[in-house]
Amino acid sequence: MQHSSEDLKNIESLLEFYIDAGVDCFLGDSPVDWTELSRRKAPVRQQPQASEVAHRTAPAEPPAHDRAAPVPTGLAPQPRTAQPAKPNNPAVIPDREVVASARDQAASAVSLEELRACLEAFDGCNLKLTAKKLVFADGNPAARLMFVGEAPGRDEDLQGKPFVGRSGQLLDRMLTAIGLDRSSAYIANVVPWRPPGNRTPTPQETEICKPFIRRQIELVNPDVIVFLGAASAKNLLGVQDGIRKMRGRWMKYPVSGRDIDAIATYHPAYLLRSPLEKRLSWRDFLSIQLKLEGT
Ligand code: URA
Repeated sequence: MQHSSEDLKNIESLLEFYIDAGVDCFLGDSPVDWTELSRRKAPVRQQPQASEVAHRTAPAEPPAHDRAAPVPTGLAPQPRTAQPAKPNNPAVIPDREVVASARDQAASAVSLEELRACLEAFDGCNLKLTAKKLVFADGNPAARLMFVGEAPGRDEDLQGKPFVGRSGQLLDRMLTAIGLDRSSAYIANVVPWRPPGNRTPTPQETEICKPFIRRQIELVNPDVIVFLGAASAKNLLGVQDGIRKMRGRWMKYPVSGRDIDAIATYHPAYLLRSPLEKRLSWRDFLSIQLKLEGT
């Protein structure tokens, strides 16, 4: 079929729009309601259905942190060959059983290597179906300082390492500013798989992944935990305050009978968008440096 130069121009500007909106790969031919799919859950340890894996497209939810904005629904890629997700898909709603299974599996890991292997084998979280790689951790497992972010973005998904994109580079500069680097810190996320299109992880996905990050913290057993952004602090400390109120305040994260000093600070992705807030982050990082010196 021949396209006029006008058609080609329109196609080009639509593609440019997709790229600007953060679409980085073409995943499927039919639109998929990811909110609906994330409510469903393949039975624990069941292999993904080929049809589920094949039909990945743009998400419907708003972006989190530096993960790029989704495509407006009306502009989602048009069908070419694949079938839409079937309403009678055999998946079931993620329930307490899946969370309990995650908890059992996480608890059974006696080392970080075992925990990583558990996550590699875990089929209870739908995010694994769309992610390219497990993003387990980076840095030094023996470090006294641990950072916890929310969920990986595109660069992290491609490399299988947390905080390697623009926000990760800013985090590196912030570490340098207090005389540290990745060899003196351990970095992980609450959710170890990239949510499709960088949407915010759903509460179900977060609940399923939480036992693993809790166990990861337990196994690393750092002296200081830094939560990057409100989401990780809210999920792991149970605090409800917004980040403006919460940041810079020392709290305790209880682990196996010990209280670890914990602080929340702005997510580096937020700092990239709001550079004026860096002065408050700078204060937080100085406070972290002092805490490390005093413990
Ligand atoms: N944002 C996060 O919360 N985690 C990452 O690993 C990257 C960006």
